[in-house]
This record gives sequence, C-alpha cells and structure tokens, in this order.
Amino acid sequence: MYELFFRLLFQRMDPEKAHHLAFRWIRLAARVPVLRTFVAAVLAPRYKVLRTEAFGLRMHGPFGLAAGFDKNAVAIDGMSMLGFDHVEIGTVTGEPQPGNPRKRLFRLVADRALINRMGFNNDGSLAVAARLATREPVFRTVVGVNIGKTKVVPEAEAVADYVKSAERLAPYADYLVVNVSSPNTPGLRDLQATEALRPLLTAVREAADRTVANRRVPLLVKIAPDLADEDVDAVADLAVELGLDGIIATNTTIAREGLGLASAPSLVKETGGLSGAPLKARSLEVLRRLYARVGDRITLVGVGGVETAEDAWQRILAGATLVQGYSAFVYEGPFWCRAIHKGLAARLRTSPYATLADAVGADVRKSA
Ligand SMILES: Cc1cc2nc3c(=O)[nH]c(=O)nc-3n(C[C@H](O)[C@H](O)[C@H](O)COP(=O)(O)O)c2cc1C
Repeated sequence: MYELFFRLLFQRMDPEKAHHLAFRWIRLAARVPVLRTFVAAVLAPRYKVLRTEAFGLRMHGPFGLAAGFDKNAVAIDGMSMLGFDHVEIGTVTGEPQPGNPRKRLFRLVADRALINRMGFNNDGSLAVAARLATREPVFRTVVGVNIGKTKVVPEAEAVADYVKSAERLAPYADYLVVNVSSPNTPGLRDLQATEALRPLLTAVREAADRTVANRRVPLLVKIAPDLADEDVDAVADLAVELGLDGIIATNTTIAREGLGLASAPSLVKETGGLSGAPLKARSLEVLRRLYARVGDRITLVGVGGVETAEDAWQRILAGATLVQGYSAFVYEGPFWCRAIHKGLAARLRTSPYATLADAVGADVRKSA
C-alpha cells in the first residue's frame, strides 16, 4: 500500500519537498490526541522482551531514528508515535545556517538509497535549545542531541563552536552526540583524527558537566564508514581512554564504487553522502570491528543500511546495543518500525539469548 502511495505521490515530487510534506503530516497527526493515540497503538506496539538499557537510559526498545530527519526537534512525539524508541535530533550547529543550495537530496530508488548534501541546514543551537526547553512531551521517548560545526566557523575554532552547542543543548539531551563524520561540511571529517578528536571530545565533556550538574549526560561520537580500519581502531581506543559512553557507526559514505548501484550514472555522480542499502555491508563491518576492539566497555549504536528486522538483528549480534535507521523509512513508510519490532521480538524469542543484552555482540564473541 505504501509502495503504491510512494510511487504515485512521493516519487513524483522533489525528494526534499516530499520529506517536508510527510513531516508535516506526521507533526499534524501527533497534535491530535485521539489520532496520535490510535496511530501509536497500531504502529508502535511495545514488546516487553525488547526493553533495553543503553548508557544508563531505559528504552522501550533498541530501534531509533537516526540524526538528520528531525534536525530542529520539531517532531519528536510524531516520530515516537510511529514507533521509534529513541529520536536523535540534529545535527544542530552553534549558529543557524541554511545549508547547501538546492537541489541537495537525491533518491536512488533502484538501489534503495539516498544521496544528500544538505550541509547541516538547521535553526542553530539557541533556537533548538529554546524549543526543547518549552517542549511538553506526549510520549516518553529518549531524545539524543547530535551537534556539529557551523560551516563559516574556521576549523581552528571548531572546538568553541561545539562547546557553544553543548552548553546550550546538554540540559535537554538524554544523550549528546559529537558528529565529526558528515561529508558535507568542509574539513569536518578531519576532526576524526585522534589529535583533533581528543581535545574536541574533552572540551564537549567538560561543557556538558559544567552546564548539567544533576546528572552525567552520556556522550557519544558518530563516525564515518570511510575511515580506514586502523583509524576506526584509533577512535575506539580514544573513546575507551576518554571514558566516552558510545560510538555511533556509521554516517553516510562518500564512496560509490563497488556498491552495486543500479541507478542512473548522473544520480550516482551527485556529490554528497550515500545512505541506505549500499551502505549496509561497510557499516556492519565497522560495527563488528569496533565491538571486537571495545567489547562491552562502550555502548555501540549501529546505523547504515538497516532495512529489515533481520538487518537490525544482525547489528545487535555484531555488537550494537541500539540500532538506528533513516533511508529505509523513506522507502518503507509508516509501518517500518512496527515490522522491525515484530521481527526483532520474534528473533529474540527463538534465539538462545534470554535478553536483548545477552545477544549484543554474540556473533563477534563466538568468532573470537
Ligand atoms: C537526508 C539525510 C540527512 C542526514 N543528516 C544527518 C545529520 O544532520 N547528522 C548526522 O549525524 N547524520 C545525518 N544523516 C545520516 C544518518 O543519520 C545515517 O547515519 C545515515 O543515513 C545511514 O543510515 P541509513 O542508511 O539508515 O540512512 C543524514 C542522512 C540523510 C539521508
């Protein structure tokens, strides 16, 4: 049904316009009490067996919305209504910015993929913090806040820009993510080098501790799939050394070759980050490598090309405590989370593992 709807309406529209239209419907539905209760009852059934805990936060389940969909924290309840167990808002930058000129989002339907060069279009840390401060949540959802660098801020001042966002947003974040992996802000991914990452993460940690006295805000870093394996190891070691709470693997990729793309070459050539099905193998590989390196010392979040319950289950077995998705939501529609939850619960029940936590990393431990 959604497939038909997608083909007849969304596929004929500009992808960014389609996003805004769908987003508006979700927000509207979430504002009508009877409707949102009904939709949540159908699309977001809770499975006791999937209840989980990550970095000290209790969640209804492991499956959340990846950053970039709700950049400005305007639809947290709407996304929760659709079944996402946590919602990561952002990326939010220190200052508001319009992002790159349109057209900047492309659908590669044949590959179940997207290419985007949005460039962190967002309202900025001050406005998003104000929105979160006055938010009256309807559903109990874990809210992650993903922060990045303002484009016009020179790289030498990047730390101060992240710190500004951290100070403003940490009070409203269940967890905070330092995004150093989007390909659409020049120089951003250089911050993944440990010499740059160490002072950045240290400063953001201090900023969060300074501004939030009554709890320790969990701090995570989000990495790119394009890192060389040794660099993945280096980030993992640094994260352990700094006492980071988690690593999110992965962001979109700049790679195109060897991904089995079936779409028009003109689309494939578009500059930006590729997400969706072609990203699956590398994201899983990075996750597996991270788990082999850090084990249970750091919580891992698996994201990139997750389309089915089986994909989500594979991420868990590879070491992910939480799993996120974005691109497949565009292609699968509103019943997507429901299918993931149902399939995950069924897999867990028929697995040798008593709890979700027992399943985390089981495949990697087995092959060690
Ligand atoms: C249109 C679009 C915008 C995105 N914006 C952000 C962002 O602002 N910050 C971020 O950390 N990741 C962003 N991402 C990356 C996703 O969070 C996710 O890591 C990536 O898409 C891989 O997951 P997927 O294959 O399930 O889409 C964006 C992805 C897409 C498709």
